[in-house]
Amino acid sequence: MAEFVKVATVSSIPDPGRTAVEVDDRVVALFHVDGSFYCTDDVCTHDGGPLGDGPTDGFQIVCPRHGARFDMRTGKALTMPATQPVIVHEVRVEGDDILVRLAPD
Ligand code: FES
Repeated sequence: MAEFVKVATVSSIPDPGRTAVEVDDRVVALFHVDGSFYCTDDVCTHDGGPLGDGPTDGFQIVCPRHGARFDMRTGKALTMPATQPVIVHEVRVEGDDILVRLAPD
């Protein structure tokens, strides 16, 4: 099982806010909403849009390419054109550090 890896600091990401970070050569999207952090693959399951570059709406990620929405807490695809969920990764906060553990492929 993958280890937790430090990817950012709490103070570096506004709430609400998001950024893309790299973990073990894999780019993931990190979101800060209502005091909590969530992490998903940075790749939209519709056609590869960069989810970390798109806007958010509450707990919804909006793909910047064609507008599909995902729930950042579960990865569930909420609107077309996406039908498949995006992979969600585990997040842990230790002090000011944000750590992510990649889910299995
Ligand atoms: S690539 Fe994300 S909605 Fe099409």
